[in-house]
Amino acid sequence: METFLDLGRQPLSNGFLAADQFQDEYFFDLKACFNTDTCMVSLEKFVDSSKMFNENYHYHASKSQTMIDHFASAASDIKELFNSVPTVLEIGSNDGIFIKNFDPGHSYCVEPCSNFAELTNSMGYKTYDDWWNVETSRKIVDEIGKVDVVYSASCMCHIPDVENAFVAVSNILRDGGLFVFQDPTAYNMILNNSYDQIYDEHAHIFSVLSLSKILNRCGLQIVNVTPLDVHGGSNRIYACKSGTPAPVVNRMIESERSIGLHKSDTYHRFADNVRKSREDLIQLLSELKSDGKKIISYGATSKSTVVFNYCSIGPDIIDYISDTTEVKQNKFLPGVHIPIVPQPPSIDDSVDYAFLGAWNYLDEISNKENVFLSRGGKFITHVPRVRVIGE
Ligand code: TYD
Repeated sequence: METFLDLGRQPLSNGFLAADQFQDEYFFDLKACFNTDTCMVSLEKFVDSSKMFNENYHYHASKSQTMIDHFASAASDIKELFNSVPTVLEIGSNDGIFIKNFDPGHSYCVEPCSNFAELTNSMGYKTYDDWWNVETSRKIVDEIGKVDVVYSASCMCHIPDVENAFVAVSNILRDGGLFVFQDPTAYNMILNNSYDQIYDEHAHIFSVLSLSKILNRCGLQIVNVTPLDVHGGSNRIYACKSGTPAPVVNRMIESERSIGLHKSDTYHRFADNVRKSREDLIQLLSELKSDGKKIISYGATSKSTVVFNYCSIGPDIIDYISDTTEVKQNKFLPGVHIPIVPQPPSIDDSVDYAFLGAWNYLDEISNKENVFLSRGGKFITHVPRVRVIGE
């Protein structure tokens, strides 16, 4: 294991809090390392999962139209692969954004955040309020038998002992069944310099290269990969117990090798770029602020928790963050304590610049904010480099 990046003292990325909770806020040292054997990028030290994923979990996937459409289309692609209605188990089902596209009679969920487990149970989907691991897989097989499809989005990369999670999938998948999972990729993180993919919840950042090695050790084989735009660049991996990989699998591994994802030097260079990005962002925002500009941030994302804490950017620079998620509103961004307000239909007339905390939804946000843009308002982003968009 080689540590290549130190993002400093960080709070829980989704630990939105009220002012009377500032004193008890939890912080940890966020560092990323590279495994020279598996080529996996992981956190140097994992944060205890129960601190992050519990009944207070703030991230509601259904708050973005892009994601609602995305999961409807994922579900329809999966249904097309089967002649009859498949039995589906979703791991990390959040607010039901994916599973609601399936018939409750044949679909099951596993979700350790009990606020969401309760929600999907109330929607008619039997939901196990458990951590996904070998023990849970045995319990579920005993109750419902093996399943045709195991699906998981932005969840496998959250599990520190990911090998145990993959063995658990292998236990519950029937022979001939399909394991479909999607998570952000190291490939896009390196190309976009999007260091804000590294945070407490992302125990690992996957590549096809690293996954092919690890899945093989767990009795699973990658048979297909689809690159996706969501979450700043993700891969949807299709794996099964035996099968022939489509040519795209090796092509993806070759592209990953061509940018050096198998070499530790690549990650050290990335860390240099990250430090440069911090300097550039602090400089840009400080200059705009001294020119008397009003700057806000758009989307109280985990990613923006990482960026603002790493760059020590607080309410002296960013007036507020607007977000559509009710449970985040009227709270503060973890660590730097920038206030979060409900998102108005259009950015307030007094605002000059909006930093894109949710830069991965640039198209959706630009469409919504055409009034802001047409009156000369500007977005700021740090990916792939710090800049005012359109200048
Ligand atoms: P996402 O990138 O999924 O978050 P994370 O970094 O935490 O994985 O961001 C979604 C957040 O952005 C969510 O809190 C909703 C918010 N958001 C808005 O407030 N307005 C919008 O128009 C969009 C698209 C998202």
